[in-house]
Amino acid sequence: MFKDDLFAGRRVLVTGGGTGLGLAMAERLAGLGAELHLCGRRLPVLDEAAGMLRGRHGAKVATHAVDIRDAAAVDAMMETIWSEHGPLDCLVNNAAGNFISRTEDLSPNGFHAISDIVFRGTFYATQAAGKRWIRDGHPGSVLSIVVTWVWTGSPFVVPSAMSKAGVDAMTKSLAVQWGRHGIRCNAIAPGVIPTEGAGSRLRPQDSQQDQLSAQNPTGRLGQPQDIGNLAAFLLAPDNTWINGQTIALDGGDHLANGAYFTQYLDWGDAEWQAARERIAARNAADRAGRTVNAPASSAAGAD
Ligand code: HXC
Repeated sequence: MFKDDLFAGRRVLVTGGGTGLGLAMAERLAGLGAELHLCGRRLPVLDEAAGMLRGRHGAKVATHAVDIRDAAAVDAMMETIWSEHGPLDCLVNNAAGNFISRTEDLSPNGFHAISDIVFRGTFYATQAAGKRWIRDGHPGSVLSIVVTWVWTGSPFVVPSAMSKAGVDAMTKSLAVQWGRHGIRCNAIAPGVIPTEGAGSRLRPQDSQQDQLSAQNPTGRLGQPQDIGNLAAFLLAPDNTWINGQTIALDGGDHLANGAYFTQYLDWGDAEWQAARERIAARNAADRAGRTVNAPASSAAGAD
């Protein structure tokens, strides 16, 4: 689909790039010659991903243990990249947090846990890259991962839906504001592309994958290469006039079926309790592997 060296000499930061969709995009770009920077909260996970990218693609890869909820840490990471490697060419805002919950059951901390990552953290990363691009007169490209619920809304993931809608608004706004600096901002709104991190927090009772495949107009769910290919297209160096767009990548699913998670409207207390316990176990395992956390002043629920 692309020239093998399409991204040769290009430097790309993927937030949350150690796993899931972030790693899928990083791998596609590494295969096309990009230098990759991966950031996340679990350094061993990032380093394992980096090793894989080096082994399979001979890519140059650096890792950064950073929680994007920490604005100062995000800025320090950008400074390290700029001073030790050189300016970024592309930023992929992929890092996210999410879990299903009845909105009436959410604590303020629960709301912050998601919105501080998705809404604020995405802004911190975008601003830290953008201000350096503008200062240096260096063109740049921002690609943010949202979800089709920026159009449909979605029950039971309201903090995520609100935050992703904010990222969609940022994409359109900065496309206009920063276009004159040679900075493009676009977004991908994927449908269901199964990953362990999202599946364990959004469909914690059973996989439902057969039903989701059957109801998709294309008869299948997304695959990592679907998002890798679209990311490569949108970030491609010669692709300089697509700006301010959020592109659905879901096989037409949201047009056919609308919002996700309406099946949970039937759940009662027992199902929600079971889901909460399984999500809590998954979150605890994740936390145990983290090598950085947001500082108390910006951690979930601190204000
Ligand atoms: C209600 C919950 C909860 C649940 C956590 N909380 N899980 N409340 N129901 N199931 C509450 C906790 O009780 C706590 O509030 C607060 O949230 C913070 O919880 P922590 O576990 O301490 O938070 P933290 O360690 O900061 O973890 C953040 C996280 C976690 C968002 C909760 O899930 C995470 O780090 N996720 C990253 C990976 C991820 O989520 N990937 C999926 C992305 S999918 P109290 O009041 O008790 O202190 C996505 C959309 C894709 O983005 C869509 C595809 C179709």
